[in-house]
Amino acid sequence: MSSPARGVAADLSHISTKAKVTGYLPADDGLKAAFTGADVIVIPAGIPRKPGMTHNDLDLFNINAGIIRDLIIGIALYAPSAFILVISNPVNSTVPIAAEVLKKHGVFDPKKLFGVTTLDVVRSETFTASVVGKSDPSVFKVPVIGGHSGDTIVPLLSLSEPKVELSDSDRAALVHRIQFGGDEVVQAKEGKGSATLSMAHAGFHFAGIVENTFVYLSGVPGGGAVKDIVAGLDYFSVPIELGCPSGAVKAMNILPQVSEYENGLLEVAYTGLAANIKKGVDFIVGAP
Ligand code: LMR
Repeated sequence: MSSPARGVAADLSHISTKAKVTGYLPADDGLKAAFTGADVIVIPAGIPRKPGMTHNDLDLFNINAGIIRDLIIGIALYAPSAFILVISNPVNSTVPIAAEVLKKHGVFDPKKLFGVTTLDVVRSETFTASVVGKSDPSVFKVPVIGGHSGDTIVPLLSLSEPKVELSDSDRAALVHRIQFGGDEVVQAKEGKGSATLSMAHAGFHFAGIVENTFVYLSGVPGGGAVKDIVAGLDYFSVPIELGCPSGAVKAMNILPQVSEYENGLLEVAYTGLAANIKKGVDFIVGAP
């Protein structure tokens, strides 16, 4: 059987690293073969946004929600202890979907389920460097919290290291560019996809010790203190200390340090996130 997946696997298998690459198809009982024994499962599957589509688009949700549900059922059956990194959009809803499926199968470990929001951090470093005229974006560390879509993404420029001084209009423009950076790629690809290469870089970056990631707060040590501040939301992205083999070791509560301006951004984010999270939970809990 021909398949792009086989082609991608063959292509990757030629890279000179210790990693051994193999590809599987559903017809060959692929989920079982791919997942059995896996320690880390990264899920970028699904349709990408098209120009003009927001992360709240119903087609995007309906198609990707079903794909995530089915993949997570496979993980629940064949790799219930794996770390799960969800990239598929809308992340604000697909992570709650994953959690509900895992709960239904009695294997939900909140310390091992992560929505990948690292690309927002990567963008915040790149765009901040460009605004202040620095050639090396990697010198900037700018925390980004909240969710992974439009105004649920909250860059904390006041906590940037090194510090950046911006006029109000430059700050507003920079925040907007970080929040809607994905749109730039979607528009430039003219309907043929969204960010894949910068996302791959972000996924690779995720191997760090402290990463911003969208988690189920009540299940992560330190998450309760964050939940108390973020309007009781169950899921939120904050810097998380990671460890092996346990997963999330500690949620870093940086919320008391945010500026008044950023508190305004957060209030907007809370409303969007509450709706996105409910949509994901309802997709599974409302299902037979
Ligand atoms: C991104 O942030 O670029 C990705 O999540 C893809 C998208 O549709 O925005």
